[in-house]
Amino acid sequence: MSVKTESRYKPFIETLRHGRGGRIPLWLMRQAGRYLPEYRATRSQAGSFLTLCFQPSLAAEVTLQPLRRFDLDAAIIFSDILVVPMALGQDVSFQEGEGPILEPLSSLPRLYEESFARQLEPVYEAVSLVSAKLGDSTGLIGFAGAPWTLACYMIEGRGGTGFPRALDFMRRQPTAFRQLIDCLTDCIVLHLSRQIDAGAEAVQIFDSWAGSLEDQEITKWSIAPLLHITRELASRYPNLPVILFPRNVSQEHLLSLVENSCAAALSLDQNQDLEWAARALQPHVALQGNLAPDSLTQGGPELEREVDRILSCLSGGAHIFNLGHGILKETPPEHVTALVERVRRFTS
Ligand code: CP3
Repeated sequence: MSVKTESRYKPFIETLRHGRGGRIPLWLMRQAGRYLPEYRATRSQAGSFLTLCFQPSLAAEVTLQPLRRFDLDAAIIFSDILVVPMALGQDVSFQEGEGPILEPLSSLPRLYEESFARQLEPVYEAVSLVSAKLGDSTGLIGFAGAPWTLACYMIEGRGGTGFPRALDFMRRQPTAFRQLIDCLTDCIVLHLSRQIDAGAEAVQIFDSWAGSLEDQEITKWSIAPLLHITRELASRYPNLPVILFPRNVSQEHLLSLVENSCAAALSLDQNQDLEWAARALQPHVALQGNLAPDSLTQGGPELEREVDRILSCLSGGAHIFNLGHGILKETPPEHVTALVERVRRFTS
């Protein structure tokens, strides 16, 4: 269990637990990454992305890099959603400029809890290292991919193609697909629990590809497993805030998550209508988001206008400023500095 006491005021955790506070917390999805020269240096010394993920001191170092540069309210542990298929025995590699490549699934994976958690021990060690080094007012986020998004990569073998094989497998072999989703659901509960035991103070579940499913499929293969995971975590860790990121789903599905889950926050992609979200969702959950990553890359007056619009739409309730999806590698770090200053100025 974490040895840290919770006596310090952490705006990020405060907003997740109790709603609107004094300061609008701010962090950015993929805040540690290739847009930072110090990340590129550490990565090239390490030799590969997976070495960064599996050497706790390196993972802790890159987790902390963006916090040294920018006044952010949360750190997200440096890892990847694809460490879960790896710990289930599927070979995963990351090629420069290609994204992840996974070996074809030859059979349905099974979870052996001890061996799974042993393989991911370096991730949990990195969480404890960061937890010990983090500033008193900064929150620490653990994360996992949602079952559907993990299944997409595991079946397709790669990203970027719209996942036709995963959709086909789901539609033609529903029984086998159900087994895969159930297995991943158990893995995610275990993986997040271990991160919480190691010191994560909130967790985020990325369902980046939820929007590639048809309407009723979303309910079955994205929402239902997310509800199961949040309920299980709530029973194990009653006060631990869970953030859900179901990317590109309809308003109806967002409402259904808010009504049926005990998530503390929803992370909104940049396509969501904020005026609607403020009215329909924000009375019930904190909202995180939702600046378009390319506005941050572009910078300038348009970025300022967008930031102001988001802040004013969501200022009536609990809001954590973030992007609508991960930061792009072309983003100049100075634009992040400008963004942070703008958000801070609004708060004061
Ligand atoms: O947010 C953070 O700073 C923490 C680290 C983090 C990474 N991946 C590091 C990473 C997080 C939270 C993720 C989540 C992740 N990984 C998701 C969900 C969020 C999303 O973006 O939709 C997904 C789908 C993945 C799978 C994945 N990993 C892809 C598709 C890629 C290639 C894309 C790319 O940007 O190259 C990765 C590699 C990856 N994960 C990198 C980083 C920093 C780039 C690796 C490198 O070359 O250094």
